[in-house]
Amino acid sequence: MIRPSSTDKIAGSDFRLPKAGPQGSAQDRAEQQPQATSVQYGIRRPIVAGNWKMHGTRSENARLIDEIISRYPADPAPECIVCPPYVYLQEVGRLLRDSAVLLGAQDVCADAQGAFTGEVSATMLKDVGCQYVIVGHSERRLHYGESDQLVARKFAAAHAKGLMPILCVGEQLADREAGRTREVVARQLDAVLELCGVQTLASAVVAYEPVWAIGTGRNASPEQVQEVHAFIRGRIAAQDATIAGATRILYGGSVKASNAAELLAMPDVDGGLIGGASLKADEFLAILAVAGSR
Ligand code: PGA
Repeated sequence: MIRPSSTDKIAGSDFRLPKAGPQGSAQDRAEQQPQATSVQYGIRRPIVAGNWKMHGTRSENARLIDEIISRYPADPAPECIVCPPYVYLQEVGRLLRDSAVLLGAQDVCADAQGAFTGEVSATMLKDVGCQYVIVGHSERRLHYGESDQLVARKFAAAHAKGLMPILCVGEQLADREAGRTREVVARQLDAVLELCGVQTLASAVVAYEPVWAIGTGRNASPEQVQEVHAFIRGRIAAQDATIAGATRILYGGSVKASNAAELLAMPDVDGGLIGGASLKADEFLAILAVAGSR
């Protein structure tokens, strides 16, 4: 099914998306280039990505991964990504071997290598089997002072090493209440477009996450979400309509099994970045099933 979207008239590029399916070790898979995808999703195959944040232990991770890979809906399968803390990446990557579930990190250093104590480079993430990395999550922006420019450099560092950045953008409650949502989201997106160029979005994902809806249980309405997603797509389209038509824009912020269907039904919502609900196998799998049945 080709999904309609706010830029439907510009959809139809030959953009190629990563393929799900058993593909050898996580390291092997990290070396692979984005590939053609099933036509059933049109050009934007949905993604459900789990951001585990600072949760998990080795045994909890093993149980969660075991449940996910044994029950991951085979067909039609949305793309499924899990993003554990750095320290567990390699082990989770091993657990994912021979499954279609992909590995992502939650952050990356903007610099390539050197004397940056505590940091982890894009090369290292590739080396342990990551294909994706979240950049600019609001918790990084808020608690660790990451500026739009630093996030753009992280995006560039990831992209340069063949990782797919998942660029998070989103306004705080005060921004929304002051009517500044578009201004904030545009500023965050433009920092990346200016440093990296619109072409880099051909191998990246955007996630809209209103800060006031993250981990709060407070939901953005499907209409609020669609409005910002369409704005983001339109802003990309102003630079390159083909890339805009192919860019997957995920929604994040208290997505759970009970509200996934209405959010993912929106024409410009191409999946979810899931925090709390990604730690519960039943919830995460239910969201995957919703994404697969869109
Ligand atoms: P949440 O987190 O689903 O717990 O709101 C989403 C996120 O921060 O990516």
